[in-house]
Order: sequence, then structure tokens, then C-alpha cells
Amino acid sequence: MKSFFSYLLVMVLAALVTGLLIAFLLNIRDRKEEAKSRHVEVAQLSEDTIDPKIWGQNFPREYDGYKKTSIGTHTQYGGSEGISKLEQDPRLKIIFAGYAFGVDYNPRRGHYYSLEDQKETLRTKKFNQTGSCLHCHVGGIKQIYEKVGNGDVQAGFEQVSAMPLKDAWQYADHPVACTDCHDPKTMELRVTRPGFSKGIKALKEKEGIKDYNPNTSASRQEMRTYVCAQCHVEYYCGSKETLFYPWNNGLKVEEIEDYYNNYKFKDGHRFFDWKHEITGAEVLKAQHPEFELWSQGVHSKSGVACADCHMPYVREGATKITDHYVRSPLLNVSRACLQCHHFTEKDMLDRVENIQNQTRKLLDRSEDALVALINKVAEAKKRGALEKDLAAIYELQRKAQWREDFINAENSMGFHAPQEAARILAESIDYARQGEVLVQTLLNQAPAQQKEEAAK
Ligand code: HEC
Ligand code: HEC
Ligand code: HEC
Ligand code: HEC
Ligand code: HEC
Repeated sequence: MKSFFSYLLVMVLAALVTGLLIAFLLNIRDRKEEAKSRHVEVAQLSEDTIDPKIWGQNFPREYDGYKKTSIGTHTQYGGSEGISKLEQDPRLKIIFAGYAFGVDYNPRRGHYYSLEDQKETLRTKKFNQTGSCLHCHVGGIKQIYEKVGNGDVQAGFEQVSAMPLKDAWQYADHPVACTDCHDPKTMELRVTRPGFSKGIKALKEKEGIKDYNPNTSASRQEMRTYVCAQCHVEYYCGSKETLFYPWNNGLKVEEIEDYYNNYKFKDGHRFFDWKHEITGAEVLKAQHPEFELWSQGVHSKSGVACADCHMPYVREGATKITDHYVRSPLLNVSRACLQCHHFTEKDMLDRVENIQNQTRKLLDRSEDALVALINKVAEAKKRGALEKDLAAIYELQRKAQWREDFINAENSMGFHAPQEAARILAESIDYARQGEVLVQTLLNQAPAQQKEEAAK
């Protein structure tokens, strides 16, 4: 009798699961059909249509969302307005001494401003930059490269990247635009940044996959991350080489570091972003490694894409559309998180706040340690420390600084991968303190050395 009931239970459960699955599949199909049939084609879109306003004639709801990225917002650590990072945290002026970021470094704003903010920063007003800067700040970059390269995107990419930025701006009319993420004919997601395509190809090659092309090989869910990873990543963008993404050895902080450490510029010199003004160490600058940090977190491992949290579905009348108001998910927890997590909004916010506060505290310690190291080296130099003795210490500054900056420049204050962020900061603190101990040892030896010299 007992086994009969167990049998019945299994049957009922199996039927239930099958039913749910069918309902789910039908739902997906319906949604796809809805998406296809819902819009009225007013404008004829082609590769030449860059202006989002024209796309908006066919897709007014998505365009409305897109325009909202001009709104200023605030969260504890994020949002799209705020004061200069340098004023908020004066330690950064010491950490970035001698570099453009030590002069002007602001919180990001929404996509709507991506072109304007690049033109306004003192980093382009006071410093010569290259056309590489266009790559992630301009709508329709693919079309610009095609034009400059006479139909050859790669050639155009190299030519524009080598131009002075001020010359390259003549081609730029729009900020991040629809055409950057969508095929104008099919509306399928696509990536358009050659830097990304090359970077991800190298990454996949390391994993044993040859000739990877995201636009033909990636799943839809992967594309919901890749469209963002075209730009929200670490990159090299100086005058010595064409822009590249350093992913040949992998996406982890030390894999990227390893790639840079073994990278030789054409002049034979090893890779560095600038020479630190106070210590003289050849150091690295990290840039918004959102994709890289996310890739080490539990959401990435569970297949949760950038768009799931930053562009959740929103109900508009009878249909569901993708929210094109790309912003902090904390302004939108009910749709961004509660689609998967069955907690209250407040619980969810508390969990995030907890992670972010912890990261911020570790980050403070790591910045303090780094500043202490820099000051100590300055003291040692003043007292005549020799370059050969400082070489090992410069390496420790480079390591500590790269890790500190990786988390500081990443824009989620640790949320995208909390454990990984803590690991990276712990290493940063350790390297900085190791460096400090070494300098102290030098300083302690100094009087003895001086006596020896005097005796000679
Ligand atoms: C599980 C949800 C989730 C996923 C997936 C996710 N993020 Fe985030 N992201 C967040 C949260 C939460 C924050 C913190 C926002 C804040 O502090 O206001 C954040 C912050 C950001 C910020 C800064 C936003 C701001 O307002 O300051 C950017 C940029 C960003 N994420 C990009 C990405 C990219 C690119 C990806 C994919 C590679 C991604 N995110 C994946 C949840 C997510
Ligand atoms: C690989 C893509 C990429 C390239 C190349 C790139 N940026 Fe950005 N930039 C971004 C992203 C993504 C953000 C927003 C996230 C952030 O601010 O951390 C941003 C933010 C900014 C901001 C606003 C915040 C701030 O840092 O003050 C400025 C200004 C800026 N970039 C200037 C430049 C300049 C100048 C260059 C060329 C040296 C450049 N960008 C090259 C992707 C890129
Ligand atoms: C940063 C990348 C990005 C930009 C820029 C962008 N979209 Fe999208 N769009 C997406 C993503 C992600 C989806 C979800 C697609 C999916 O899951 O298959 C989407 C979906 C859509 C869809 C399908 C229906 C829906 O809402 O889900 C339409 C239509 C659309 N976008 C129109 C636009 C228009 C119009 C613009 C410019 C005003 C634009 N998009 C700009 C990323 C982008
Ligand atoms: C073509 C390059 C590009 C693409 C593609 C792109 N971004 Fe951005 N994003 C930027 C730049 C540049 C900024 C900074 C603009 C500024 O500060 O003026 C930015 C800013 C942001 C911000 C800060 C605005 C705020 O309100 O907090 C978020 C969040 C963000 N992007 C998320 C995403 C997500 C998610 C995707 C993919 C769906 C994406 N971005 C795709 C270049 C890009
Ligand atoms: C598409 C589904 C999905 C969305 C959207 C989503 N999550 Fe998650 N989240 C998961 C899964 C799956 C896990 C891992 C399994 C688990 O622990 O439940 C997870 C884990 C977490 C964890 C535990 C993290 C850790 O490192 O152990 C936190 C915190 C979290 N999510 C917060 C958020 C927040 C905040 C948002 C919205 C900004 C969000 N999630 C959006 C699916 C999602």
C-alpha cells in the first residue's frame, strides 16, 4: 500500500513538472512572438542609422528607458552622480601621483553622457589622449571604423586608435547607442567592439576553443552579458599600441597582472601605465573591471547576466519589455532581484549593504597600507636609498596598487563577487605591508652602511 502511494506521488510530481515545463516554454514562445509583433515599423533602420531617436520611432518604450539614463541618481556607493573621487578620498591623489587620474577622476554617469563626459574631463583637456578613447564612449563605433578604414573595420580601428583624440572626435556624434548592442535588421543582440572580440577570442583560445566569434557562437544568455562586457572591462589604451583587453591568460586579477608583466612594448620595455611620481615605481591602473570581477562571483557561476539585474523585464500594459533605463539595481530591487530571490526588498538591500560596507572597510585598509608604503619609500629616497635596493620594493608597490585599484575602479563595491574582492584586498594589504617592512629594514641598515662608507 505504502509503495502504491509513493508511486502515485512520483507520477503526480512528474506530471506537475512536465506541465510547468510546457507552460514555461509556451511563455517564452509567446514572449518572443509578442516582441516580434508588438512594434510598428515606422522608420527603416539600417547600419547607417546611429541616432537613437530614429530607432525610438519603432521602439518608443525602449527609447524612453534609454533617455532616462540622463537622470541623476544616488545610492550609498553607486548611482550616477556624486562628487569627485579625488575630493572624496584624498589618498587617491597620493596613489595616482603623476598620472592623469590624479588630476580628475569622477564617478560615472549614465550612458546618455558617455560622449559628453569624455570631452569635459581634464584628463582629455590637459593631457594628450589617443583616438582609442572613442572605442567605448561613442555610439556607432563600428560604422566609424568602417568609414575610416574604407570598409575594413580592423584597419579603421587601428587608424582611429592612432589618431590624436581631438581629431578622432570629428567622427563622433552620439553616446552609447542602440546600434552598439542591436542588429538594425533583426534586433538580435550583437557586440560591435573589436577590442572585445579580440579579447574574448584569446580568452576562449586559452580554454581550448579556436576562432571564437561571440556574434555567432554565444548563447542568448551569454550575449546578455557580452553586450555590456564590450565596455565595462579592464583595457590598455595608450599611445604605444592599439587598444587591447588583457585576457590571454584569464580574467582573474593575477592572470591579467601576469599578462601585463610579460607583455613587451615595441621599444622592448615591459608594460606599465605610468611611473609613480613619488616612488618612481612602474605601476598599473585598473579600469572598471566589472566583467572580470562578475566572472568570479556566484551570479556568474549561476548564469545570471548583467542584463538580468541592470536591465530587468518591466511590464508595459499587456507586454513585458526589457528596461533600457540601465542603472544601479538598488534603485529597482523588486524587479532586479526579487524575480529570483524571495526575500523582502529591505532584506535584499541589507545584504548588499553588508557586502559593500565590508568591502569598503577592507579597501580603506588597503589604501592606508599603500599610502604608508609610498611615504616610507619617499623617506628612504630622501635618505639616499639606492635604486638597486628599492627594486624589490617597487614590485611590491606595483602588486599592492594593482589589487587595490582593481577593486576601487570596479563599480559594485565588491558586490559582483564579494569573496573574490576580499581575497584581492587581503593580498593588497599584505604586499603593501611586506614592502613597508623591507623599506624599514633598509632604513635600519642605513646608518651602519654610512659608517662603513665613512671608514673606507
Ligand atoms: C546579481 C545582480 C547583478 C549582476 C548579475 C551584475 N550586477 Fe552590476 N551591480 C549590481 C549591484 C547590486 C550593484 C551596486 C549598485 C550600487 O551600489 O548602487 C552593481 C553595480 C554596477 C555598476 C555601478 C552602478 C552604479 O550605479 O554605480 C556597474 C557599472 C555595473 N554594476 C555593471 C555590471 C556589469 C557590466 C555586469 C555584468 C558583467 C553586472 N554589473 C552584473 C548587481 C548586479
Ligand atoms: C574599454 C572601454 C573604454 C575605453 C577604451 C575608455 N573608456 Fe572611459 N569609461 C568606460 C566605462 C565603462 C566607464 C564607466 C565606468 C567607470 O566610470 O568606472 C567610463 C568612464 C569614463 C569617464 C567618467 C568617469 C571618470 O573616470 O571620470 C571618463 C571621463 C572617461 N571614461 C574617459 C575616458 C578617456 C579619456 C579614455 C581614453 C584614455 C577612455 N575613457 C577610454 C569605458 C571605456
Ligand atoms: C547596452 C546594450 C543595449 C543598448 C545600447 C540598447 N539595447 Fe535594446 N536590448 C538590450 C538587451 C540586453 C535586451 C534583451 C534582449 C534579450 O534578452 O534577448 C534588449 C532588448 C531590446 C528589444 C526587444 C524587446 C524588449 O524590450 O525586450 C528592443 C525592441 C530593443 N532592445 C530596442 C532598443 C532600442 C530602440 C535601443 C536604443 C534606444 C536599444 N535597444 C539600446 C541591450 C541594449
Ligand atoms: C559602448 C560602451 C558601453 C556599453 C556597451 C555599455 N556601457 Fe555602461 N557605461 C559606459 C560608459 C562610457 C559609462 C560612463 C558614462 C559617463 O560617465 O559619462 C557607462 C555607465 C554605466 C553605468 C553607470 C550609470 C548609473 O546610473 O549608475 C551603468 C550602471 C552601466 N553603464 C551598466 C551597463 C550595462 C549593464 C551594460 C550592458 C547592458 C552596459 N553598461 C553597456 C559604456 C558602455
Ligand atoms: C536571475 C536570477 C537572479 C537575480 C536576478 C539575482 N540573483 Fe542573487 N543569486 C541568484 C543565484 C542562483 C544565487 C546563488 C544560489 C543561492 O545562493 O541562492 C544568488 C546568490 C545571491 C547572494 C549570495 C551571494 C554569495 O556570494 O553567496 C546574494 C547576496 C544575492 N544573490 C543578491 C542579489 C541581489 C542584491 C540581486 C539584485 C541586484 C540579485 N541577487 C539578483 C540568482 C539571482
